[in-house]
Amino acid sequence: MRIAVTGSIATDHLMTFPGRFSDQLLPDQLQQVSLSFLVDELEIRRGGIAANISFGLGCLGLSPLLVGAVGTDFADYRAWLERHGVDCSGVHISELRHTARFMCTTDADHNQMASFYAGAMSEARNIELAPLGEIDLVVVSPNDPEAMVRHTEECRARGVAFAADPSQQLARMDGAEVRSLIGGAAYLFTNEYEKALCEQKSGWSDAEILDQVEIRVTTLGPKGVVIDRKGEPGLHVPAAPEVRKVEPTGVGDAFRAGFLAAVAWGLDLERAAQLGNLVAAHALETAGGQEYRLERETLLTRMGQAYGSAAADEVAAHLR
Ligand SMILES: Nc1ncnc2c1ncn2[C@@H]1O[C@H](COP(=O)(O)OP(=O)(O)OP(=O)(O)O)[C@@H](O)[C@H]1O
Ligand SMILES: [Mg+2]
Repeated sequence: MRIAVTGSIATDHLMTFPGRFSDQLLPDQLQQVSLSFLVDELEIRRGGIAANISFGLGCLGLSPLLVGAVGTDFADYRAWLERHGVDCSGVHISELRHTARFMCTTDADHNQMASFYAGAMSEARNIELAPLGEIDLVVVSPNDPEAMVRHTEECRARGVAFAADPSQQLARMDGAEVRSLIGGAAYLFTNEYEKALCEQKSGWSDAEILDQVEIRVTTLGPKGVVIDRKGEPGLHVPAAPEVRKVEPTGVGDAFRAGFLAAVAWGLDLERAAQLGNLVAAHALETAGGQEYRLERETLLTRMGQAYGSAAADEVAAHLR
């Protein structure tokens, strides 16, 4: 099964300022702010939703096709992704703009000043999926909003199965856009909050959304995940026990990677949810969305401990 993952590709530049922003902001000088913070730490992390999901799929032995737009500064990042099994042939390189970048400075009180530069991501709207070859499932993750609508419409028009993963971009979409992203999806991924936002914005009820999508996957944070299909009782799969919680960045993306890998292997929805939960736990245990490692033996041991030996055996049959 060939999976294309469309969406953002970005790096996060995270800095820490040992002082307090509030000490630097003079209330009577706010009309001419010109501040520079001498920061202690700079951490550069690979991110972007599509890149995170593709990384997880690659670590599980699949060869996902990453589809998105970046700048000419992408070379190192590409090498990293390719080393982890990601096919970057669907990535468009902009000649004009840099790869999307999130820059955030955090002070001693955990206040933050951040900017997000979308950059090359806006060119994702020019990408057509048809020339990328035969694809069995297209994941439509947060991206340039026009690109998300375009990819979804292309899938519907060509009868290609797609997974709607609108998450962060729901906030800036109107009802018509939300309906167009969801209608006809093979899978709809959201967390609980985004599920409610989907209903509110689309004007569709819980049941009406189930009429629109084949399988709805709602992640519940530490409570795991619930999978719904029209006319069937919901399937709740508890989270995998985490070893130590470090940072939640990218847990949702890691869940999707595990879930979709199991789907690609032909495992059932319960197994897919279990593997999703387990990969998400790995992401929770590392800082960043692509810092976890999936070692075969540990993964299988933890799968067995969390969900039983039959679950571990089924996954083992597909892991390299
Ligand atoms: N405390 C936890 N312990 C174990 N697993 C967790 C925990 N929190 C989250 N998970 C796993 O991660 C999955 C996704 O979590 P969540 O519903 O919080 O996603 P999210 O809100 O989309 O996260 P984000 O957008 O920050 O990546 C859950 O379904 C679960 O498998
Ligand atoms: Mg999320």
